[in-house]
Amino acid sequence: MHDAAMQRWHTIVEPFRIHSVEPIRFNTVDERSAHLVEAGYNLFNLHADDVLIDLLTDSGTGAMSRDQWAAIQRGDESYAGSPSWFRFLDAVRALFPFEHVIPTHQGRAAEKILFTVIGGPGKVIPNNTHFDTTRANVEFTGAEAVDLVIPEGRQPDLLHPFKGNMDVDALDALITERGAEHVPVVLLTITNNSGGGQPVSLANIRAVRAVCDRHGIPLFLDGCRFAENAWFIRQREPGQQDRPVRDIVREIGSLVDGMTMSAKKDGMANIGGWLAMNDDALAAQCRNLLILTEGFPTYGGLAGRDLEAIAQGLTEVVDEHYLRYRIESTAYLADALDAAGVPAVKPAGGHAVYLDARSLLAHIPPLEYPGQALATALYREGGIRGCEIGTVMFGRHPDGSETPAAMDLVRLAIPRRTYTQSHVDYVIEVVRWVAERAASLRGLRIVDEPPALRHFTARFSPLE
Ligand SMILES: Cc1ncc(COP(=O)(O)O)c(C=O)c1O
Repeated sequence: MHDAAMQRWHTIVEPFRIHSVEPIRFNTVDERSAHLVEAGYNLFNLHADDVLIDLLTDSGTGAMSRDQWAAIQRGDESYAGSPSWFRFLDAVRALFPFEHVIPTHQGRAAEKILFTVIGGPGKVIPNNTHFDTTRANVEFTGAEAVDLVIPEGRQPDLLHPFKGNMDVDALDALITERGAEHVPVVLLTITNNSGGGQPVSLANIRAVRAVCDRHGIPLFLDGCRFAENAWFIRQREPGQQDRPVRDIVREIGSLVDGMTMSAKKDGMANIGGWLAMNDDALAAQCRNLLILTEGFPTYGGLAGRDLEAIAQGLTEVVDEHYLRYRIESTAYLADALDAAGVPAVKPAGGHAVYLDARSLLAHIPPLEYPGQALATALYREGGIRGCEIGTVMFGRHPDGSETPAAMDLVRLAIPRRTYTQSHVDYVIEVVRWVAERAASLRGLRIVDEPPALRHFTARFSPLE
C-alpha cells in the first residue's frame, strides 16, 4: 500500500500527526559560550533547556505514541506476576522467542549482569564494535573487549551495504589463538552504533554463528536497534525484499543464543531493557544478580507502566511505514551534508549521522580531540548538541595509556518521531556554516577525568 500510494512522491511524510508539543528555548551565541565554560566544554554537563536541537542521543529521547501513553495508564504495579509483565514478555517473545527474558532498567544493567556472570580476568569478548557501556562493563570485570568489525567498517567514506559486519576470519583466528575456553560469548551489535550505526547482514550473522558453533561458543546480540537493522537487510540484502520486517527480526533472533537490549532505542520507550537467553543455568545466575541489583524477575528495574510502554513500542517499531520514514529521514540529513561537502560516515546510519571530525579538522591531532572541538562548535554556533564518538570516548585504556580511537566522529543522533523536517533543515544550515569555518577551530585538553567512561563527566579547556 505504501509503495503503491506514496512512492511516486519524493517528500518524506512523517507517518504521524503531532498530538502534544514541548517548547524549545532560543538563546544566543554569547549565552551558549558562557554555558560551555560552565560545563567544562562537556556537552553532557549542559542544562537541556539551553539546547535548541538535542541530538546527543536517540536513547530514551523519542516521542511515545498515543497508544503507548494509553498503555501506561494500564500499567499494573503488582510486585510479582503483574499483567504488565506478561504483556511485556509476550511482546518480546513475539520477536525474540527466548526461554528466559530478564527485564532491566536499561541496556547497561543487562550488560553488567551478563558480564559479571561470564566475564573476568583472562576472558576475551569479541564484538563487531563494543558500545562504550558494553566495553566498560566487560573491562570492569577484568576481561578484554576486542572489536572485530570488517576493515571497510573503519573507513568512514567507503560505501558498503553492511559496514557493521564482523570480520569472520579475524574472529576465527582470535578464538583459535586465545582458546575457546577463554571466550565466553561472541557479541554482535545491531546496528553497529560506535561504527556509524551501520547494519549487519543476515549472511554475516549466519557466518558468525557457524564460527561460534565450530568452537562451541554462544552468540549474543546487542540488539538495541534490531528493527532498523532488519529494515536495512530488507532494503539491501539480496532475496530479502519481500519479507515482512517482523520475519527478518525473528530469523535474527533464531540465529543467536541470547541478547542484551536497551528498550530506549527500538523499544520506543523512555526507559527499559532486557537480557534474554535460552541457557537455563546462565539465566538462573543472572536472575540471582537481578534480584540483588535491579528487582524481582517480573519487573526488573522497571515500573509496570514502563513494561507496558515497551510492549506497545515493540509492536510499533516493526511497522514498515515507520521504518521507511525513520531511515529515509536520517538519509535526508546525511545526503544534504554530503552535497555540501561535509565529510561523514557513508552510507548514512539508521539512527544518526556521524560527521568525520578527523577529516574535517585535519589540523587538530586526535589527542587534541577534533570530535570534541566540532561538537562544541555546533553547540556554540547553533545550539545543536551532538556527541563525540572518538578519542575522548575510546582513547583512554585500562592500563592508563591514551591512544587515538579508530575514528573521530561527531554523532548527530535523531530521537525517534521527535523533530520535523524544518528542525533538520536548520541542523543542515548550522553544520554547513561551521564546516565552512573549520580551519578556525582549535583542539582541547582534558583538565579532569574519571577512571572509566570519561566522556560523560570529563572537563576540558580549549587550546589557544
Ligand atoms: C549499541 C548500544 N549498546 C548498549 C547501549 C546501552 O544502553 P543503555 O543506555 O540503555 O544503558 C547503548 C546505548 O546507547 C547502545 O547504543
